[in-house]
Amino acid sequence: MAPAPSLDVAPTPTAADGTTPRPGRAIERAATLLALACVPVGLLLLGDGDALAGGAVLSLGTGVAIAALLARGRSEAIRDRDLRRAGISIWIEDWTEVGKVILSLRAEGRDVQAHFAAHPELFDQLHRTVRITDVNDSTLDFTGAREKSRLIGRLADVVPASAQTFERWIAAMARGDRVYRSESRVRRLDGELRDCLVTAVLPRDLEGFGNLLVSIIDISDYKADQARLAIIEREASRASRAATVGVLTASIAHEVKSPLAAVVTNAEAALRWLRRPAPDLVEAEAAIGAVVGDALRARDVVDRTRLLLTNAPHTPAELEIVDAIRSAALLVDRELRAADAILRVRAEPGTPRVMADVSRLRQVVTNLLLNAAQAMADSPRPREILIRAQADGEDVRVEVADTGTGIAPDRITRIFEPFYSTKEDGIGVGLAICRACVEAHGGRLWATSVPGAGATFHFTLPAAPA
Ligand SMILES: Nc1ncnc2c1ncn2[C@@H]1O[C@H](COP(=O)(O)OP(=O)(O)OP(=O)(O)O)[C@@H](O)[C@H]1O
Ligand SMILES: [Mg+2]
Repeated sequence: MAPAPSLDVAPTPTAADGTTPRPGRAIERAATLLALACVPVGLLLLGDGDALAGGAVLSLGTGVAIAALLARGRSEAIRDRDLRRAGISIWIEDWTEVGKVILSLRAEGRDVQAHFAAHPELFDQLHRTVRITDVNDSTLDFTGAREKSRLIGRLADVVPASAQTFERWIAAMARGDRVYRSESRVRRLDGELRDCLVTAVLPRDLEGFGNLLVSIIDISDYKADQARLAIIEREASRASRAATVGVLTASIAHEVKSPLAAVVTNAEAALRWLRRPAPDLVEAEAAIGAVVGDALRARDVVDRTRLLLTNAPHTPAELEIVDAIRSAALLVDRELRAADAILRVRAEPGTPRVMADVSRLRQVVTNLLLNAAQAMADSPRPREILIRAQADGEDVRVEVADTGTGIAPDRITRIFEPFYSTKEDGIGVGLAICRACVEAHGGRLWATSVPGAGATFHFTLPAAPA
């Protein structure tokens, strides 16, 4: 067997100290540099949301690094200072016992996967034979270990959680995969769990099993960004649900028509019974009873509509208005950017906190911002939206001013009517939702405008008790 590779620094022969550089050294250096370059590029791509390209570049980098290491490992111990200090955590592990089992099964022509499936006890037995023989500097940083000795030893003792992924390793080896790659959670010595991308070029012979090189890239920050994005996307879909609610509202409004028609019919019938020369009070009473029943039916539909519009129980909490507005604005960031709109949010000095239901306030802000962005879509630049909050008696008043088309005086109150829209694809419920949400707080919502120079929407919310 070749000498076990190590990541220790050893004097490297150079032309300067009189020895001849080993042929192929330039290629190895280039491979090392390429591998190192792949890490930031791969992480950048991942950060940009291009998981496929990011993953591919990271895999290429680790593949090249490992191939370079293996190439050297065959002829001499790994002594490259660059790799010792590589930004990737590198572990060298001895999987000889696993290799013996897999290679002998293969030599006998047996189905390796079937054998492991029939002997599940092998996983635990073999897991306990795997040893960590070396790690590089990054591994110390990554795990929080002060000394290498903390990390050298039986894999099952040093990284107990490896038991959970061991079957996956064996399955990949049994299948004869060229590369093992999986996401894992690795616990640092201080207990912190980190998300990692684990890769290794899987060995073909016993020597390779004895010197398995495993690389680990910490992708926790990337995963955290992904999780944050997922939350924002969920919130955004909630905002767009407001538009869907518009369609639902239309169908419910349709539903309310029939009880209203019945109210009219029954009320007219009651009037006719009463206007007879000899009024028939029994019939009139029956007809009025039916009117009440139909009116209640209509009220139910309206209640349902309001519930759908506002979507959740009203739970006001104390909020810093500027923060709440900014985080709501994030939900329509894409639309604002598409409209090339600049958003400014500020509060006058002394603006108190508000008592508001965060999800309703979000609906108000997102709908007003979407309208503003749409109103400015054809305006010359700069397209600006200024949100200003200030104290107003017992309330906080918020103004949302844009530099869009503005609103003609004869439309300034009509725009709040449900289904009033001047847009080709508008449902006309945005402002109706806003008004319902503001009124649920006991506040008011209205608009002012200088046509051609922009519109300003004003709403009030109760200030939180001092
Ligand atoms: N910032 C604004 N500037 C100019 N006009 C506006 C502005 N905001 C609203 N409007 C007018 O008010 C109308 C009603 O707005 P509302 O948000 O209720 O519905 P919509 O935007 O047309 O459709 P949707 O409900 O699907 O968003 C709009 O069609 C538009 O004519
Ligand atoms: Mg709208």
